[in-house]
Amino acid sequence: MTKVNNLWAELSACADDRIGERIDSFFDADPGQRMQTLVISAPGVTADLSKNLILERDFHQLVEFAISLSLDKKVEAMFNGEAVNTSEGRAVLHTLLRNPSPSFPDASKAAAVRSTLAKLETFVTNALNGGLGYQITDVVNIGIGGSHLGPALVCDALRDYRIKNIQTHFVSNVDAALLDDILGKIRPESTLFVIASKSFTTAETLLNANTVRDWFSQQGGDNLNLADHFIAVSSAIDKVTEFGINEENIFPMWDWVGGRYSLWSAIGLPIALQCGFSNFRQLLDGAAAMDEHFRSERFEKNLPAALALLGVWQSNFLGYDTRAVIPYDDRLKLLPAFLQQLEMESNGKQVSKEGDALDETTSPVVWGGVGTDAQHAFFQQLHQGTSETPIDFIICKQANHEHADHHLALQANCFAQAEALMCGTQNEADPERLMIGNHSSNMFLLETLTPFNLGSLLAMYEHRTMFQGALWGINSFDQFGVELGKKLAGQIEQELQGGPRTAHDPSTEFLINTIMEQTKP
Ligand code: F6P
Repeated sequence: MTKVNNLWAELSACADDRIGERIDSFFDADPGQRMQTLVISAPGVTADLSKNLILERDFHQLVEFAISLSLDKKVEAMFNGEAVNTSEGRAVLHTLLRNPSPSFPDASKAAAVRSTLAKLETFVTNALNGGLGYQITDVVNIGIGGSHLGPALVCDALRDYRIKNIQTHFVSNVDAALLDDILGKIRPESTLFVIASKSFTTAETLLNANTVRDWFSQQGGDNLNLADHFIAVSSAIDKVTEFGINEENIFPMWDWVGGRYSLWSAIGLPIALQCGFSNFRQLLDGAAAMDEHFRSERFEKNLPAALALLGVWQSNFLGYDTRAVIPYDDRLKLLPAFLQQLEMESNGKQVSKEGDALDETTSPVVWGGVGTDAQHAFFQQLHQGTSETPIDFIICKQANHEHADHHLALQANCFAQAEALMCGTQNEADPERLMIGNHSSNMFLLETLTPFNLGSLLAMYEHRTMFQGALWGINSFDQFGVELGKKLAGQIEQELQGGPRTAHDPSTEFLINTIMEQTKP
């Protein structure tokens, strides 16, 4: 795709000119104009993109590039439910989950979303009012990947909205250290278990679900009814009923919602249980507002599109192969992990939609941590290391607490880091103390961390990811790369249990033999 487009070569030449130039000098000519071009507002989020190694005219050229690829049509195709997940022949409709309007072209899909939302609302209201026959104290979500990261992030982020006396827990990893820790904290008679698995074939989730079901039976004896304590979210109804959950306790999922885009579906049930259904609705509304912005705003002022264009500029033309996400907000500490799956599972691809090997690099490594802790951990490398990591800073204008002095200190640190990274030290003679600066960053300002603003922020990142994938000409909605490891794990597990041995590389042979030696009777 990019190889046949002349604009790609022109952009590459522009970026070559920028290398060696200074970001802070880009403000000299007309600072007002730069801020006007590179500060972009969307519902719930304002982004200052001006501290990037890019001139306004480069940015306009990037926009031209997106226009030349008719990306507006690709965005429309996704919103309209066309099969944009080409390798699996599926629509990609997490946007419909936020706004299941009767005017959507495929009325049956919109109706399915509306009826599931109504079922969720009834269930949550009933459960929170003791309608399950007990007052819930704990909700345990058993799921991994997209069936874990989104709900866990949102539950943690919306801790201020938590309904009193309800704790949510997340069992994701097959490591029983996590499971034991959680089981040690809960009582079966007041716990609701949510088994979240779109496919209901994910090995970790099934092992955890079986262990928890056994624990529940042992602890509860004959006094507790499994049906009152176990529900599931899945698209595989037959597999769930086989596990022992009644059909009426299953919330549906559809193949047109990808796992990493699924927190807006019934996979978000723990959020609704922790914060109440109206706050879950607010989260959806915030995402819907960002959807509308993304769908209708011209690319120059379209925040997800602008971020994706900057991402391509950084990855492909400036050669940055990593990006750090640093929220200055403890409530967003799980955001980097969520974005790792969203971006790296979506765009960590080596071939185009047509199956052709790509010449250009795709998803950078996404990582991060929370400020100010990160300043005292890895920021040294960001300031004086030899590799380049652009940063997304995120901070709220207003705190949700009474400690104004703390929030002021947080803001001061956040802004100071972005300034120090860009400007560096002036007139420093000692090379060991010299900070060259010229490091790029984006600054995202939220008014305050409400369900609406959080929904909008997460939808912004989803659309950034989709748009960036479209710029690269890849399919952002499949994930075949995770399959081989899953298959091999199943095989090795059998071998470790004494099953027939199969051929492995010498290193893996050594590892299997070491464990088998140790477990010999
Ligand atoms: O790791 C691959 C993956 O398929 C993710 O895309 C998905 O979010 C996760 O596993 C969990 O899948 P499921 O919800 O089907 O258990």
